[in-house]
Amino acid sequence: MRIKNICCIGAGYVGGPTMSIIAQKNPKINVYVVDMNANKIAAWNSKNLKNLPVFEPGLSKVVKQARNRNLFFSTDVNKYIEKADMIFISVNTPTKISGKGKGYAADLKYVEACAKQIAKVSRSNKIIVEKSTVPVRTSEKIKEILRSNNSDVDFQILSNPEFLAEGTAMRDLEIPDRVLIGGDDTIKGKKAIDSLVEIYSSWVPKKNILTTNLWSSELSKLTANAFLAQRISSINSLSELCEETGADIEEVSKAIGMDTRIGSSFLKTSVGFGGSCFQKDILNLVYIARSFGLEKVADYWEQILIINKHQRNRFAKNIIGCIKENNLKPRVLILGWAFKKNTNDTRESAAIYVANNLLNENIEIYIHDPKVKRSQVDFDLSNLNPNYDKSLVNFTDDPLMNISEHNIIAIITEWDEFIDYNWKRIYTKIKKPAYIFDGRNILEVEKIRKIGFNYIGIGRT
Ligand code: NAD
Ligand code: UGA
Repeated sequence: MRIKNICCIGAGYVGGPTMSIIAQKNPKINVYVVDMNANKIAAWNSKNLKNLPVFEPGLSKVVKQARNRNLFFSTDVNKYIEKADMIFISVNTPTKISGKGKGYAADLKYVEACAKQIAKVSRSNKIIVEKSTVPVRTSEKIKEILRSNNSDVDFQILSNPEFLAEGTAMRDLEIPDRVLIGGDDTIKGKKAIDSLVEIYSSWVPKKNILTTNLWSSELSKLTANAFLAQRISSINSLSELCEETGADIEEVSKAIGMDTRIGSSFLKTSVGFGGSCFQKDILNLVYIARSFGLEKVADYWEQILIINKHQRNRFAKNIIGCIKENNLKPRVLILGWAFKKNTNDTRESAAIYVANNLLNENIEIYIHDPKVKRSQVDFDLSNLNPNYDKSLVNFTDDPLMNISEHNIIAIITEWDEFIDYNWKRIYTKIKKPAYIFDGRNILEVEKIRKIGFNYIGIGRT
């Protein structure tokens, strides 16, 4: 079946960029991205491309090219569900906060609501594509909802998980390591797979498009994230051992990564990983393993999260210790709030947890991030602790303006601009003794120490 109209439900960090690329590469297909959040859709339609709701290098160029040609953003969910031959479900699947599986299982209420709405509105056959990250066998649930609510049309379900990383999303979409498509091993199922393969083939080499059964595709997504996060927690756990022994984690990481069997990716030590997915997907994996009685398997994967929390806490603890031991004014300048550079996304950012620990000790914080707004910082902090002391939190667009009032700088996000700061000049103005806690090891230790700063990195002494 040749696809003419695509609808994507969910105009978020995945739906927006993914559909922009699909539209750019398939000018003959109309792509309608719909969302119930009217503000978000208005932002996607905004004339000023700086106001797009997602910041991703290269995104605005693609949106500019395809928007209102064959890429459209709308709140009219029903209209475009009905119009489409293929519907992507790209809605959020957060960790459940209540009910069975609370704190672990993925909350599928948004996915299920989409399935119900599709069933209600559809008058013609459709291919439904699971783009959201979901527990293995979710497609079975979707099938059940669709068929029990609408037996007049044929629904084929595909799983097509997304592997893009924020900050590099456009490159990841343009040259993906692989595109994964899971579907049923039936004539109709295979035809549906072929339709989606054809869409991706307009720019992805066929050898990079992997087709599997539905369950393998769903499980591969969860486990890919767990493997990536596992590497970060492994290196972060060793960073603490480095601090005790005098080994340097950057040297250890390089030495390990040069083994081609291990590889060098995802071995960069940090203040802890953040982002909307690693934690939620691992919690979900742990939940699935426990629900099958696989306690040891569940404990193994949960350990990744325990180390991650420990890494964030010990970073904050070092800062608090420094203030107390040196009798410094309880005030810290935090550089970076996003969970990684080149994104405005702050979900599960280590910065939120570090800041919360500092606030619990009545330490005043000044925050600067090139892409995050003050309102987002307030939202993140109150989400974690509704009673946090607002009077201790300051947001600054020019972090260096009042630098003479600070002894301590904490780098949490690895934004390039922090590397490029004139640290010599900063040293002349900052209060002495001056401390830099580098949660990303982005600064050159020798150079910074030579300037006069006390430099405390991760896993290096
Ligand atoms: P997001 O929160 O940025 O976007 C989801 C959007 O769906 C929201 O705008 C919300 O308003 C909308 N929505 C929810 N229910 C709806 C409904 N019934 N009708 C219309 N709109 C609805 O989420 P995201 O970061 O884009 O993630 C989406 C999925 O993709 C998740 O399952 C996530 O795990 C997965 N994923 C995310 C990333 C990433 O980098 N963020 C990468 C790969 C996979
Ligand atoms: C991650 C995966 O990389 C994507 O493949 C996946 O599609 C996505 O999750 C998802 O499912 O949401 P993302 O979270 O956007 O992408 O970004 P990453 O580059 O994976 O970084 C995650 C966190 O780990 C960041 O806080 C980053 O700073 C940290 N990190 C990453 C490290 O601390 N060390 C590293 O070596 C790499």
